[in-house]
Amino acid sequence: MKQHYDAIIVGGGVMGSSIAYQLSKRNMQVLIIEKDGMAKKASSAAAGMLGAQSELEGDHQLFPLAQQSRAMFPVVAEELKSLSGIDIELKQTGILKVAQTEDELTHLKSVAALQRSMGQEAEWLSAEKIRMKEPELSAAALGGFYIPNDGQVSAPLLSKAFAQSAAVLGTDMLEYTKVDSFIRKDNRIIGVKTTAGTYYAEEIVVAGGAWSSHILQKAGESLDVYPVKGECFAVQHDQQMISSSIFLTNGYIVPKSGGRLIIGATQKPGDFDQTVHLHGLSGLIANATNMIPALKEAKWENAWAGIRPQTGDDLPYIGRCPHVNGLSVAAGHFRNGILLSPITGILVADLLEGKPVDDTFAIDRKLLEEVNS
Ligand code: FAD
Ligand code: GLY
Repeated sequence: MKQHYDAIIVGGGVMGSSIAYQLSKRNMQVLIIEKDGMAKKASSAAAGMLGAQSELEGDHQLFPLAQQSRAMFPVVAEELKSLSGIDIELKQTGILKVAQTEDELTHLKSVAALQRSMGQEAEWLSAEKIRMKEPELSAAALGGFYIPNDGQVSAPLLSKAFAQSAAVLGTDMLEYTKVDSFIRKDNRIIGVKTTAGTYYAEEIVVAGGAWSSHILQKAGESLDVYPVKGECFAVQHDQQMISSSIFLTNGYIVPKSGGRLIIGATQKPGDFDQTVHLHGLSGLIANATNMIPALKEAKWENAWAGIRPQTGDDLPYIGRCPHVNGLSVAAGHFRNGILLSPITGILVADLLEGKPVDDTFAIDRKLLEEVNS
């Protein structure tokens, strides 16, 4: 372990590891500092959907970036497999967005039409056709649209593969080590003080997920990132219930390898507590079995919770801190951090190499809006 690096990444979730991987590819000496084990927080809790069209409706400012990141996955999967030996279980079997009320039906029809007008594939399916596609869906499915290009990966394996590939390229990792404060020289952050000593770098990137505001506060930067807890559970079924992921207004059912299904997820803003409550789970179970009655026969596997990093205006922060040099951030990817991890790694690596990044993701974007208006 060295004491001086080109870049230090604070946080070893999918975002920190993707950034470290890209920086290592550009021959930078990188250290990731993680207060827990690598990717034990949101990045392992995620269902792994690559929901560029199912999570974002077309008029969202993140839509173009999400398309770009989704398109990177086949190459990312190959690269990570060849470096780390880990198969991220990329499945390009689509996501089916399903309406359960007349209002949802009207809304989804307009979303599918908007997406088609933007050149995206979004095939409308009547109630009859939706059951031809997925025969286990009940009469609760009134119709919906099929998105062939929204795939899925294993979120824990993706996070692990980014970290391991970064390590193969020379990234060092310090686990169970908390970054407590920053070391400042004049108007530049030059290092971090941790529970295991002091480390220095030319560039420091905070990728601390829902904890990013707390971390950056120590450098005098304010960031509007807050936690949104999500509870999930997994079951096992002997038969293959569904071929694509089913995306509902209040949750989703994602078919994984070997008959496993992930069913999620609750949304509890302001909650950092990772315990699972029956209240949340009972709602998810009712939702899922109402849509796929045969799920009642599935075998229980486990339940968990993760903390999504949300921001005040529903956009992640990817950029340099405005008041101090040498400090950047990549945080606040909320429900789409797995999907957005490949492109975020590239954007941060570009930023550190001096290339401009879209103002949309700037930390002081509200300030920029005021200045420009
Ligand atoms: P995290 O994974 O939380 O990593 C941040 C890390 O920083 C943590 O490991 C933490 O320990 C560390 N840290 C914090 N403070 C410090 C400190 N002081 N010093 C050192 N380390 C520190 N996204 C999708 O794209 N598709 C999905 O299907 C999907 N499903 C989801 C389902 C659930 C239930 C949840 C909770 C999230 C889901 N997401 C999904 C969202 C996705 O998981 C997140 O957006 C993403 O994991 C955020 O990654 P991150 O690296 O920013 O945060
Ligand atoms: N993207 C799914 C979730 O955040 O629950």
